[in-house]
Amino acid sequence: MIAANRPISQPEIDLDVFHRYAGLSLPRHVSYPMPTWWQRMNVDDAQTMYDRCDHQSPGYDLSLYVHIPFCERLCKFCGCNRVVLGTNHDKSRPQVDRYISALEKELSLLSKGFGIRRPLRQIHWGGGSPTYLDAAQIERVHQAIAHTFHIAPDAEISMEIDPRTASEEKMKTLRQLGFTRISMGVQDFDEQTQKHVRRVQPFEMVRDLTTLCRELGFSSINYDLIYGMPYQTPETIRATVKQTIKLSPDRIAFYHFAQIPDKIATQRGMDLSRLPSSDSKLDMFQIGLALFEAAGYDFIGLDHFAKPDESLAKSLADNKIQRNFQGMTTGGDLNLLGVGASSISQLRNIGFLQNIKDIDDYVIALESDRSPIDRGKWFTGDDCIRQAVLSDLYCMAELHPKSIESRFGIDFDKYFAHELRVMQELTTDGLVEIGADGVIRVTKPLGRVLMRNIAAVFDAYLDKQAYRLGEKANFSVNA
Ligand SMILES: C[S@@+](CC[C@H](N)C(=O)[O-])C[C@H]1O[C@@H](n2cnc3c(N)ncnc32)[C@H](O)[C@@H]1O
Ligand code: SF4
Repeated sequence: MIAANRPISQPEIDLDVFHRYAGLSLPRHVSYPMPTWWQRMNVDDAQTMYDRCDHQSPGYDLSLYVHIPFCERLCKFCGCNRVVLGTNHDKSRPQVDRYISALEKELSLLSKGFGIRRPLRQIHWGGGSPTYLDAAQIERVHQAIAHTFHIAPDAEISMEIDPRTASEEKMKTLRQLGFTRISMGVQDFDEQTQKHVRRVQPFEMVRDLTTLCRELGFSSINYDLIYGMPYQTPETIRATVKQTIKLSPDRIAFYHFAQIPDKIATQRGMDLSRLPSSDSKLDMFQIGLALFEAAGYDFIGLDHFAKPDESLAKSLADNKIQRNFQGMTTGGDLNLLGVGASSISQLRNIGFLQNIKDIDDYVIALESDRSPIDRGKWFTGDDCIRQAVLSDLYCMAELHPKSIESRFGIDFDKYFAHELRVMQELTTDGLVEIGADGVIRVTKPLGRVLMRNIAAVFDAYLDKQAYRLGEKANFSVNA
């Protein structure tokens, strides 16, 4: 265990090796294949996928994602699909109610096309900020879900909460409706960073909301934190991590700042000259890793931490964890359905379906009785094998060839001959270790820090040399 206040200057990490791999724009694989490879889809494609789901053997129980895109204010770093409506809720009410009507319509269309016989084991509301809705609007959406699905009595029901719009009345409503988990956007406790990214939210606000959630009986509280934004330094991150540990959330998502100013206009308003260097970001990650582990959290996957008795850590042991659009989640054994603008359905061994991203176009489609399905991807057999490989790497930091062989009936060494040669090179550089039993283990901290480089080797849609600088400056596509 690493002492909590030890200065972290990466003694374990060889910076030469780190710089040979870091800095590539590699995918984080919240989906495989990545959306770049998806195609236009229509209602007939969706219906064929739903029919296949109906005939799946064994069938899978269900998980539902509900997208609520509204926020009161814009945070400059935000990469989510959201629309900012301001603080005057009377003014925005018609627009919000219209969106809720569209959601109700989508749920009713879904229930006609999809054989909704299996129980709903998970519901997750994301955004945007679902707490933009008032208590009555939240209840209206929940009732529409309850009319469409059979919600399992022990279902895990969670919501992404913006603490600035989470009133006591709303939190009480959530508990009464059966919500069990809360995920709060905390981002950073440092005042200077908060002001710069326009996300001002005092420590006391998060502390009081956490206390309220515990009193109301939510079984798990998650905090989202981001490192790598302008003005953040290893020392400000150390202070934020320590304050986080003081409040003792059950899970933490410790996100690396996804900086894409070309695509996200608001990020151009940030002082990018104050972005931390890649060495500083490495320090920040290691500070988080050391302090959270010293405080008793398990490190899960690329960027998540959980208390050992929390469901995420327990699911890891049962191999039921998965990495998807919601981050690292339990429910790896469920079919995921997504409703709302931009939402994605992930039907196991079948494919992805994504709704129209633009919020107005999504509403108009449903008002015109059209399906909101826009894009998607049919999985090939190879996609399914590689999904399993990537999932094992990202979630468990281990790859068991025998398990992949028995699940898919392949000869692992032959199927992945090229990838295994690359793994040997990564062994030399210290990113992975290969046991006598053939199990590939991601090292800590170097392999964990460079997890995306390891995963890139198994991504058939990337250039075969895409995992390391000097081989190719950036990733490109196999012909
Ligand atoms: C939908 S928001 C969470 C709920 C609510 N809107 C809030 O901000 O409190 C999802 C999370 O995505 C993360 N996020 C948003 N933009 C990001 C970016 N550019 N890089 C890394 N994480 C980001 C934030 O940590 C945020 O809490
Ligand atoms: S981070 Fe959350 S509150 Fe801020 S703009 Fe994005 S979705 Fe809205």
